[in-house]
Amino acid sequence: DKAGHKHFMSKEIAEQPGVIGAAIGHYLTPEGQINISTQDIDFTQFDRIVMVACGTASYACLTAKYWFEQIARLPVEVDVASEFRYREPPISPRTLAVFVSQSGETADTLAALRYCEGKAARILSVVNVPESSIARESDLALPIHAGVEVGVASTKAFTCQLVVLFALVLKAARDRETITAEAFADHISSLRGLPAIISTALEQNDTMQEAALKLSHARDVLFLGRGQMYPLALEGALKLKEISYIHAEAYASGELKHGPIALVDEHVPVVVMAPRDALFDKTVSNMQEVMARKGKVILISDSKGQAEANDGVWFSIEMPPVPDALAPILYAIPAQLLAYHTAVAKGTDVDQPRNLAKSVTVE
Ligand code: F6R
Repeated sequence: DKAGHKHFMSKEIAEQPGVIGAAIGHYLTPEGQINISTQDIDFTQFDRIVMVACGTASYACLTAKYWFEQIARLPVEVDVASEFRYREPPISPRTLAVFVSQSGETADTLAALRYCEGKAARILSVVNVPESSIARESDLALPIHAGVEVGVASTKAFTCQLVVLFALVLKAARDRETITAEAFADHISSLRGLPAIISTALEQNDTMQEAALKLSHARDVLFLGRGQMYPLALEGALKLKEISYIHAEAYASGELKHGPIALVDEHVPVVVMAPRDALFDKTVSNMQEVMARKGKVILISDSKGQAEANDGVWFSIEMPPVPDALAPILYAIPAQLLAYHTAVAKGTDVDQPRNLAKSVTVE
């Protein structure tokens, strides 16, 4: 049932304030603590995390790497499952292995999990389907509470994965005493405010549609982001390729001058994801390099960022302000809506893109 929407994907995008709220409700206690017990997982037992997943779920892992390293001071390695499983990576006994999967049935992710059995200190999964193979074979499975996701392109599962991973990071920071009580409380109240901010972003739907109409004529699109916004650039590019069939690539903004800037001319839209955070000026200078080569920039930023830097850009998309750490969750919304409206403008099969399956149970 599409609940009045043209596609499951738009229904699932619109559901995000609700399901993110549900996920937050499951992982925060009324007293403002993280609802994951130390019997279940104790981060003082690990000195390293490996995170393994495929596709969009791997971008959730990559985002969590920035959080784990900055907030909980734990080193994290992220790998795509198809590479991890055959590389025979050494897993030291104080390693926590984390597997993220919407379906819980992805063959490569499951094989990677089995490889870690008997090697890692603990096997944790973050899944949407609690009865799935990956959930059953983990020491601990954390459900994301996104509800059934029908659209092949993952949307609400991604943002709910991020919410659960963020809660896990806060638990890690508490266990490892890398966070002050005050900073912890700030993050908790930021999380509680997130559903309302996501709703505000969804109100920008018409602006996203306008930007998508422009994108729909492109043959190639670049996405740029720096720091924790880099994985979001990857996610934006993947969503666009999957459902609109436009060739899209993402780069860490700082990598631009090491090659990809050679691609930029007046035909290449460049989507820049840049909330006004500590790295904003760096990203803006990369964006200006693009504009100097006549690249058409779509700047996604908050009102402060737009006011400082949208001179000469092709199109601006204004996001509501958000606490820095949670910006990746918010900026998933424009990534999804740009891809969605571009696909609709091109008339592709949004919910069932060619050559793709919802659950990849063969390698
Ligand atoms: C992208 C997408 C895929 C999946 C990937 C992993 O929109 O849906 O990249 O994220 O196939 O699937 P799960 O999460 O079920 O393991």
